[in-house]
Parts: sequence; C-alpha cells; structure tokens
Amino acid sequence: MCGIVGYTGHQPAQKIVIESLKKLEYRGYDSSGIATKEDKLVICKKEGPIANMESILPKSSSNLAIAHTRWATHGVPSDTNAHPHTDGDNSVAVVHNGTIDNYLAIRENLEKEGYNFKSESDSEVLPILISKYYAGDLVEALNKTLADIQGIFTIAVIHENHPDEIVAVRHETPLIIGVGNSENFIASDIYAVLKYTQQIVYPEDNQIVRVTPESIELFDFDLKSIDYEVETVEKYTEVAEKGGYEHFMLKEIFEQPKALQDSLTELLVDSPLERLGLNWKIGSISIVACGTSYHAGLVGKYVIEQLTAIPVSVGYSSEFRYAAPVQGVGGLLSSRPLVVLISQSGETADTLAAARSAKQQGCHTIAICNVPGSRITREVDGVIITKSGQEVGVAATKTFLTQMQALYALGVHLAFNSGSLDHPQLKLWESEIRKIPSKITQVLNNSEAIKALVPHFVKAKSAFFIGRNINYPLAMEGALKLKEISYIHAEGYPAGELKHGPLALLSKETPVLAIAMQDHTYSKLVSNIEEVSARSAPVITLCQKGDQQIPKISDSYFELPEIDPVLSPFTVAVFLQLLSYYVAHELGTEIDKPRNLAKSVTVE
Ligand code: G6P
Repeated sequence: MCGIVGYTGHQPAQKIVIESLKKLEYRGYDSSGIATKEDKLVICKKEGPIANMESILPKSSSNLAIAHTRWATHGVPSDTNAHPHTDGDNSVAVVHNGTIDNYLAIRENLEKEGYNFKSESDSEVLPILISKYYAGDLVEALNKTLADIQGIFTIAVIHENHPDEIVAVRHETPLIIGVGNSENFIASDIYAVLKYTQQIVYPEDNQIVRVTPESIELFDFDLKSIDYEVETVEKYTEVAEKGGYEHFMLKEIFEQPKALQDSLTELLVDSPLERLGLNWKIGSISIVACGTSYHAGLVGKYVIEQLTAIPVSVGYSSEFRYAAPVQGVGGLLSSRPLVVLISQSGETADTLAAARSAKQQGCHTIAICNVPGSRITREVDGVIITKSGQEVGVAATKTFLTQMQALYALGVHLAFNSGSLDHPQLKLWESEIRKIPSKITQVLNNSEAIKALVPHFVKAKSAFFIGRNINYPLAMEGALKLKEISYIHAEGYPAGELKHGPLALLSKETPVLAIAMQDHTYSKLVSNIEEVSARSAPVITLCQKGDQQIPKISDSYFELPEIDPVLSPFTVAVFLQLLSYYVAHELGTEIDKPRNLAKSVTVE
C-alpha cells in the first residue's frame, strides 16, 4: 500500500526520490506524485505507473523532496486524488499513508471556515490543517493537526519556508529514517533507501520526526525531545532486481532453494527456544496471520499438533480481536499461552493489531517475519527472521516456504523440549528439513511439465483445488495464487467437503486440481477424484513419483519427487506457484502487481 519517501541533502532530490519510490512499487499502488522546493513548492502527480509521472516531471534544482505512491482508499485513482496534497496557497505539501477516519467532519468544518478542497481524498485535510496552524514551526503545526485527527497514518510534510526540512510522524503505519552524510532520508521501509545507506533509525509509534541534511530530531506528542539509536541493517537485505527473469514472481519462485538454505542456520541453531523466550511448558498455541501467511499457519498447526500434542488454533488477524480471549490467559504461569504472529512484511495492520491484543491479554508473542527491524519484530517477545531476501512480487512465494520451514523447526524443537522427540529423532527431523531445498529443486527443474497443464485452466471461469490433512491448506494456497495473479475464480476445499456444495458447480469447464500424497488420506482422495470425474470435470492430480493409480483416473497428472508426506507441502507449493504463474503468463495479466492488491497492507 501507499509508499512514502523523502530526501533532504546536497544532491538533486528529484532523481533520488524517484529511484527510491520505485523500490516501493512492490507494495502496490495506482498513482504517484512528488513535491520539490524550487522558488516555491512544485507538485507533479499522475495516475498510473511511476513512469507516467516521470514523463511530465519539470526540471528541478531542489535538494528537498517528498514523494508518494498511492493505493486508493478514499476516492478513485486519479491525478487529483494522487499525493502530495497541498493547502490553497501551495505553501505546504503532504504525503500520507493510512486513513483519516474523521476527515468528513473536519472537512465540513474547514469548508465552513472558507477553505476549499480539490480532491475526494481524506488526506487533503492534512495540508489545510497544517497550514492553518503554522506559525513558523512545522513540528508544532503538525502536532496541533494531530490533535484534530483520528485514524492511522504516516505523514510527511514540507513547507516552502523550510527549504531543507522534512517533518514526519507515524501512528500505526511504517516510517524509517535513513541516515547519510550531510543528507537524510525518510521512507516507508528500508528497501527504499538501502542503495544510499544501511544506517537506519526506527521511530516508534506516535513520534514526530524532523530531518535536515545535518540533523535528526524525534519528539513525542508533548514535543519533548526523544533519544534514538542508529542501527545497521544486515547486508543480506539487498535491494531486489529481476536478474534476467521476466517477472519478480518467477525469480522469487526459483530463489526458494536458496531462501530455505539461508533461513536454516537461524532455525536450527542450538537452543532456538531459549532465544525465543520459550522456556516454560506451553499449554496452547494460537497462530495468527493474513493471506498466504495464514496458510503457512494452517500447515504449522498440523505439524506442531502432530509432533507435540499441544493444541494449536489458527485465525485470521482481522478476526482475532473478535474471538474469545486466548485460552490459558490468567491461569498458572506454566500454562501461559503462546501466540505466533506470521507476517512476511512485518507491517500488516491487522496482524500488528492482533499482536497488541495478544500482549494485552498476557500472552507470550513471537513473530515469524522476513523484514528485520519491521514493526512487528519490535513489538513481540521473540522473533524468527526468515531469510528469503526481499520479495517484490505481490503474491507471496518464497516467504511462504520459509514461514512453513520456521514452523516445522519450531514444532520439532518444542517436541524435543517437551520430551515427545528424543535426540536422535530431533536430528533425523533436522536432516529431513535440510533436504527440502534439493527436493524443490527437482520440481523447479521440471517446469516444462507444469507448463503443459496450462490449457486445462486458461479458459476456465472457475477452478477448485482439493486436498486433505496437511495438504488442505495447500489447496487453499493454490487457489489463492491462481485467483491473485490470473483473475480466475478459484476455491481451495477440503476434498471431503466437495460433495457438500461445490459438486453442484462442476462441469467440463471447471478444472479440479487434486493433491494426492501417499499418506493415510490417499484412498479417500482417490474416491474424491472419482466423484469429480463422474461429473465430467477435468481432474489434474499432483501425486508422488511412481503412483500407479492416479494416472489411470486423472485427465493429467504431475509427479512430485519422493518425500515424506509430512514434508510434501514444500514440493506441492512450488508446483502450485509455477502453475499459477504459467496460467497468468498465458493470460497476459500483470503478474507482479495484480490489480487492486497490495503487498504491504498497512490499513485494517
Ligand atoms: C497481502 C499480500 C499477500 C500476503 C498478505 C499478508 O495480501 O498480497 O501476499 O500474504 O498480505 O501479508 P504479511 O506481510 O502479513 O505476510
């Protein structure tokens, strides 16, 4: 969702913020804009890709700029609704990520006072309020504005009277400061500034920031000065490039063996539980996440329950707050519940809200996250960082696999800790987990056979994905991937549930993808495939190498390398990702940036 960057220093600011803004494209957006300080403030904004805005950029000599990518919440994507927004005199320019919940009331009052509005955006009240309160100090004017507004926001402001100053604030949405030599940056995330600096300041919620080329100041809402630390971001967090692949998504699918390999060291080191503060007998676990991360959580439930007998519940972050209190809270310390929050970005508003609610309830919280330093990693009690590297494709791929890997490692170590696994069993599990990268490489090497399945899907209006047990979440993930990037309606279903509804929808035009691994659910899945075939729907089955039965009852099939069925979600996932990719490619959709979707969902 909306991306914010700002630069103040000694270099031409326009070029730097445009480059930085492009690093935030992955978040999802529909328009972009920039404000620079020439003789006066100059605003340039345009609907569509950043290239549209670039094509109309005036020459600039400014060393100060803020820029924005907008993901529409209030008002359609348009040039007028794009940011930056200004006051009537163009003395203040503002970019905003988030929503101002009470903007209508504020707007009505301002209109009564004689102020005019140009856009439909909730954000436009901000420059008008700041300009109204401005009496020489931009921090003070922003602080007064904050007293009037409700909602969630990162706001960055420049003023024509302050040619080297950016003032910004964060409240439940992301903001970082990049520290340079006689230049400083602000941005929504570190990826925007990594080309220029690895020195980062992470302002907390409800802190106001003033940056000039030579100074960084942080204030609370009483305008008391706050100390801050400068952190160095690890080198592996490199800014992603396509590296010869047609799309980031394809590149990221092929990077998965490395992502799993790189993440292993962190997961299987000595005493990972101690590092996570998990040193008591855990009575229950709640896993909370959104989207693809939620599907990783569902897989984690099967693994952890099977290994440890600890009951695990999995919920959507956006529903967590409405659920009954987490079981075990308020009981003995020995039964203190564990809440595991999964978020590749670490900035998803719903998951952050769930983390806060879990903490308030007295739960121990840990996060599985791919972005070091992101919001969630700073709020929970323990962190597992997956080392997938930056994921640019909106549809999550490599972060999904490393999240699952983290949950397997967590399950194995919890089981060892509780005595359900002995040391040789722990080592055996660890060695199986180490083999996953080579197994998925075999699937990647067979991508031509996956491409051959595309004709089953390209003309379909609707498709079903079915699986049982640990591969039921994979059916859901396969359906999600297909709908996200190809826009074909798809549903993931537990195979046994098909006859309780969806069977009514099956026809020759409705492909059904079945995941049939050689586990205790196999024979039941075979029956489900027969039920589908009997309704003339094409069946495409994922089976294990050497399966004799599946080829006879399926229209097409794909053989996965031999793997313990409990580890099959990894190979299955890679197949499903590639299938969706090739279908979308055939249909010519915007694979890396699907319409209406955002990678980093910073509003609830
Ligand atoms: C968005 C992205 C998905 C992602 C989900 C959760 O919907 O498009 O790819 O799975 O958010 O994001 P998170 O960062 O919390 O894992």
